[in-house]
Amino acid sequence: MNAMTGAPAAAEEVERLVARYDGRVPRYTSYPTAPHFTPAIGSEVYRRWLAELPPETPLSLYLHVPFCDRLCLYCGCNTSVVRLETSHRLYADLLLREIDAVADVIGRRAAVSHVHWGGGTPTSLPGDCLIAIMDRLKARFAFAPDAEIAIELDPTSLPDDRRDALGPMGVTRISLGVQDLEPSVQRAIGRMQSYEETERCAEAARALGVASLNLDLIYGLPLQTEDGVARTARRALGLGADRVAVFGYAHVPWMKRHQALIPEEQLPGPAERYAQLNAIHRVLTEEGGYVPIGLDHYARPSDAMAKAAAARNLKRCFQGYTTDDAPALIGFGASSIGSLPQGYVQNATTAAAWEKEIEAGRLAVVRGIAVDADDRLRRDVIERIMCDLDIDLEAVAAAHGADPAPLTQAAAEGLPKFVEDGLASWDGRRIVVSERGRPFVRSVAALFDAYLARASDKPRHSRAV
Ligand SMILES: C[S@@+](CC[C@H](N)C(=O)[O-])C[C@H]1O[C@@H](n2cnc3c(N)ncnc32)[C@H](O)[C@@H]1O
Ligand code: SF4
Repeated sequence: MNAMTGAPAAAEEVERLVARYDGRVPRYTSYPTAPHFTPAIGSEVYRRWLAELPPETPLSLYLHVPFCDRLCLYCGCNTSVVRLETSHRLYADLLLREIDAVADVIGRRAAVSHVHWGGGTPTSLPGDCLIAIMDRLKARFAFAPDAEIAIELDPTSLPDDRRDALGPMGVTRISLGVQDLEPSVQRAIGRMQSYEETERCAEAARALGVASLNLDLIYGLPLQTEDGVARTARRALGLGADRVAVFGYAHVPWMKRHQALIPEEQLPGPAERYAQLNAIHRVLTEEGGYVPIGLDHYARPSDAMAKAAAARNLKRCFQGYTTDDAPALIGFGASSIGSLPQGYVQNATTAAAWEKEIEAGRLAVVRGIAVDADDRLRRDVIERIMCDLDIDLEAVAAAHGADPAPLTQAAAEGLPKFVEDGLASWDGRRIVVSERGRPFVRSVAALFDAYLARASDKPRHSRAV
């Protein structure tokens, strides 16, 4: 039984769909996507863009900590193994300097509605550093009383001082990396993590009174099976999360060289990946009562993300999906990406390169892209497809004062095969992606990506499913 359609799916049918739609397309956490950023946007442009931010623009802040205690073989994040406390403290000091430098350029205590600590593993930084950074943010920005403060935690790496810092930091949302709970898979990915330590971490989060607890699961990992991922999902239900993110393993060894240590023959093929996604979907929705959100998230109906999705207020962001609707995102730390009304900016990628920029007293932006009216229109179209699986192209074009013709033409050319396979419907202005089409929503969004169509520089993305 195919849980995403409720209908039996013959193996050959799955093979055919996956072969037809499993193109390598972006995940659209931004548009234009990061491979199109260029060095034409550097620290001086960033300085100007920050200074031009209209007063009253609420900000969202992202802090990236590119350190971990160990490297999980599957990891696609920007991180490296750094265990030395002096390195952690130096990085934390430089984050304080970067916060001051950015706040000085903005020139006022701008309003902040969201903070997200990501990585790597943010709790690589000592507890007193985490608190000092949050205190500095609160001194330099005007936090809304209900500001969301989110942090990603690795349950295998949460020393007491870090755990005890979460309260004073004012953390309101915690995201736990789980991935898979089967010992054979954990051995294959170099990440041993018992259910009990994950549970202890979830309990610590609950004891803090956080408004939302998230879990990350992955399918498509080496040695994973349909039964195994269903078992992991079932055990994860016991952790009582408000949201679960279910990522397809992105195997990109040409970008992340350590992934080459995973023997290709241990990786499930496309049809098997699809079956694994279905198995997790079935457990989370039928047994757990979660509602599917966009491409890869699940939320309890009472959670803010499910409510935002129902109200069509959900947004796409670099972490996937968010309820955060702040019009500007400021990134701090190595490789962090910011999104301003004028365009995207990205800091120097490695910790060493970022540290050099901050130590020299410069803003650390080294690449980015300015967005024009056509980018904004297409970004909206892609975001609504990724978030709502439903879009009225003429209404979106009208909201931008734009001609809908290029959009409807792209839809008329690209959609017929999706319609033929029951993945989407199309009436000349409205596209609705079906439940069966949900795993392929990136491919529907890609029909409106003007950069992808330019054949000259196609970056290689991970599989769509
Ligand atoms: C920064 S990590 C989370 C925090 C912490 N470092 C941990 O691992 O628990 C963010 C999440 O990205 C996901 N992830 C990392 N590499 C991935 C890959 N290659 N493909 C798909 N998801 C990946 C994992 O689910 C992971 O929990
Ligand atoms: S998955 Fe998390 S803990 Fe593992 S290497 Fe990546 S960032 Fe570090």
